[in-house]
Amino acid sequence: MISISEAIVKMISGCACSQHDICHFMKVWAYARTIGELEGLDPRTQQTLEFSAIVHDIACPDLRKEYGNAPWDLQETYGPPLVREFFKDCGMDEEMLSRICYLVGHHHTAVDVKGMDHQILLEADFLVNAGEQEKYLKNTAVFREKVFKTKTGIGLLENMFPTGEYE
Ligand SMILES: [Fe+2]
Repeated sequence: MISISEAIVKMISGCACSQHDICHFMKVWAYARTIGELEGLDPRTQQTLEFSAIVHDIACPDLRKEYGNAPWDLQETYGPPLVREFFKDCGMDEEMLSRICYLVGHHHTAVDVKGMDHQILLEADFLVNAGEQEKYLKNTAVFREKVFKTKTGIGLLENMFPTGEYE
């Protein structure tokens, strides 16, 4: 099966990602990997999480071309078929591929979160978004309260964006 590093190279070379898109997913992947390892995920869940982090915003270039921006709900709708296409000849089993499609299709959905892979993807994406966009940064306290669950993710959030500093 394709390795994590090969998936990163494929994502950079094969998708119409901007410089910003590439930096974004590399950061989300790094936090997802870090949180997953420190939270003790089993190897398969860790791998599923890392692949999901790499491709989570795969729909953004197409959406920007079509709509001028990338609304979060459309990202969740457009993402999974593109993920399936991306991993088509990569030797990935259907169970893992389905899970990655599910995670990409729910990477902005913080309700009914089942599974550490989903939880950690939400946390990793928020950590990066809060560093990139004011609208996320302003919601740090709300996300800390309502979304963040893992000890590692909460620790990172509190150290990166100390409570009160941006409220
Ligand atoms: Fe993202």
